[in-house]
Amino acid sequence: MIKMKKILAAALAVVMCMAIVGCDKKDDTAAPADSAADSVVSSVEQTPATEDNADKADEKTTKTTLVMATNASFPPYEYYENEKIVGIDAEIAELIAEKLGLTLEIKDMEFGSIIGAVQTGTVDIGMAGMTVTEERLVTVDFSDSYATAVQAIIVKEGSDIQTADDLQGKKIGVQESTTGDIYATGDFGDENLKRFSKGNDAVAALASGIVDAVIIDNEPAKNYVAANDGLKVLDTSYAEEEYAIAVNKDNTDLKEKINAALAELKADGTIDKIVAKYIPEK
Ligand code: ARG
Repeated sequence: MIKMKKILAAALAVVMCMAIVGCDKKDDTAAPADSAADSVVSSVEQTPATEDNADKADEKTTKTTLVMATNASFPPYEYYENEKIVGIDAEIAELIAEKLGLTLEIKDMEFGSIIGAVQTGTVDIGMAGMTVTEERLVTVDFSDSYATAVQAIIVKEGSDIQTADDLQGKKIGVQESTTGDIYATGDFGDENLKRFSKGNDAVAALASGIVDAVIIDNEPAKNYVAANDGLKVLDTSYAEEEYAIAVNKDNTDLKEKINAALAELKADGTIDKIVAKYIPEK
């Protein structure tokens, strides 16, 4: 029996939310008229994943950049638009960098490499629709949460899979090293999983019948389904999660500054506004 998971992160996030203002959703009027969301991305500096910028991240004393690791095939959080990385995370990170007096630089990499890059200091932050989990908290710290998500199940229209329980014995596609991968491995067994380096590759495999279902975060799931005929997201959710920004354990100062910036961006409605821009129906 597959039960809905409520990971430790959810509890943590509640505690964090109580400590800061504006964690709850705002309906309202507080958002600035001129959307920061519209302008910020153009100033984002981006480097290809192959370029080695470790030296930059190491210059702690004269730092002018905030180097962010992400995996940019995860709309609406991070994805390419005209060769630029845009999305909810890119915009929030840009505003945080601005508040810290730094220039944001985004490095696109495999999702599974992000935590290691934060841990070794190759980058300053990891922001990639990344879920706070107990395992990740062993190696990195996380900021306060800035979004909630659920792991969703995508199937072909007309599939006999209706709930998570129906996934037993089926071939399941996941993005490697994500929580979808981790939970599904535990629940359904390694032999039933097919891991892909990108979420959209998993979805393409579903469309072509290589896997029977894909477990992935709900908002990307909706995006992928919209881009592929004949697929649907099941109503049932597989796990609830909190997204936060990964920071090196030794960099408490940066984490505190990020939390302060996030609190302001929540309180003045900016985050809601960015989310509404990318997820209009929310
Ligand atoms: N929320 C999931 C996790 O943290 C998936 C995140 C995948 N993000 C991405 N940018 N590909 O494991």
